[in-house]
Amino acid sequence: MPTTVLIGAQWGDEGKGKVTDHLSESADVVVRYQGGNNAGHTIIVGTERFALTLIPSGVLYPQVTPVIGNGCVIDPSVLVTEMAELADRNIDPTRLKISANAHLIMPYHRKLDAVMERFLGQQQIGTTKRGIGPAYMDKFSRHGIRVQDLFDPKIFRQKLEVALKDKNKILTKVYNSLPMDIEPIADEYLGYADSIGDYVTDTSLLLWEAQQAGKNIIFEGAQGTLLDIDHGTYPFVTSSNPTAGGATTGSGVGPTTIDRIVGVAKAYITRVGTGPFPTELFDDIGAKMVDIGGEFGTVTGRRRRCGWLDLVALRYAVRVNGLTELAMTKLDILSHFENLRVAVGYDSLGDRYTEFPRQQRVLYNCRPVYEELPGWNTDISNVRKFSDLPKEAQHYIEYVEDTIGIPISMIGVGPARDATVMRTT
Ligand code: GDP
Ligand code: IMO
Ligand code: MG
Repeated sequence: MPTTVLIGAQWGDEGKGKVTDHLSESADVVVRYQGGNNAGHTIIVGTERFALTLIPSGVLYPQVTPVIGNGCVIDPSVLVTEMAELADRNIDPTRLKISANAHLIMPYHRKLDAVMERFLGQQQIGTTKRGIGPAYMDKFSRHGIRVQDLFDPKIFRQKLEVALKDKNKILTKVYNSLPMDIEPIADEYLGYADSIGDYVTDTSLLLWEAQQAGKNIIFEGAQGTLLDIDHGTYPFVTSSNPTAGGATTGSGVGPTTIDRIVGVAKAYITRVGTGPFPTELFDDIGAKMVDIGGEFGTVTGRRRRCGWLDLVALRYAVRVNGLTELAMTKLDILSHFENLRVAVGYDSLGDRYTEFPRQQRVLYNCRPVYEELPGWNTDISNVRKFSDLPKEAQHYIEYVEDTIGIPISMIGVGPARDATVMRTT
């Protein structure tokens, strides 16, 4: 049975939730390995809509063990709420396994996220304000508090005291904000030891044992390649590694155990938050993509910026993740456009680029070089076989495959669980 890593190949919101859900039907374990509740993964099952932020999408299948790996940052208030919401909808969340080594998002992380963004003014990143960046800052400066600390009240208080001393200075002296009290935070967090204690375990060992037993494991990436702290459009990125390498460090399995790396990309491209975006459309076409694609954030409700599919960026995602195949979502949205465009290069500062530029200055000045492709102007939402797609839609898929050099194995034609064309022919 394969170990599959599923990656966002663009700037997030590619439809990873739907594709994970699709693959989870035959999965035993589904693992989140980075990020936290900055993610918003939507899954539509019949008339029900689930928007999961922290718990792996595989939870919707009863045979799946959902795992939150060490590379994630966990806001326990969000975790217990999400678990309760699932239980209310008759989804059993008690199969969840949580890494003892995952870091906690603390109330001061959320506050710092908000004030740091305010301080940046025009240069702000447009974060989700969930405390993600400050939690990872503490992890890497070795001042973080981990899930396992909740179970040792003495150590927890000591760590919290040290952290708050430092954070309160920063909040008051740098950001002109009010300090935070230790007692309510300690009371709240130590209470989580009871509510999540049963689920905390050595998840690296669990995954090793699952692999030894030949189980089917899926790693569910959050965010996307271009939001990666190392490989994304820094500094307009998130603070973790959504790329494939993150799956191993963020879960404690070795790279040699991974068989398949599936990228997920929309048939066009979107971005929430600020930062460079070469194919962004500021015209009626972009507005139409927002409307027809329903492009509003799952977590923050923000309007997503939209543009034509960027094949330079997609080839980059193939490279930095070692993608073995692609799932292309939302092809149905392109049915509403007469003619289509895909970016095959960029012009910037007098040069032509066919590889994703490594310099921020170059990227900011990129003007896309487009290839025009014919649209199909037909509803494809009921199509389930590749050969039943209009020939222009088949051509679009084949053109992308030829350009990026890997097969497109799944095509999304609607948000529902079964609205997928499997590419077996
Ligand atoms: P994620 O963060 O990558 O899981 O993506 P989001 O859930 O934030 O955003 C993707 C949106 O597209 C959700 O509203 C999905 O229900 C929807 N979606 C996913 N695949 C398709 C598809 O093939 N067609 C259409 N029309 N919608 C889709
Ligand atoms: P999913 O998993 C799209 C963006 C934010 C901001 C930047 C940093 O649903 O694809 P952060 O709060 O992480 O420090 O914000 O990253 N961002 C996402 N954009 N989808 C996401 O998750 C995102 N998670 C973070 O908008 O630009
Ligand atoms: Mg999302």
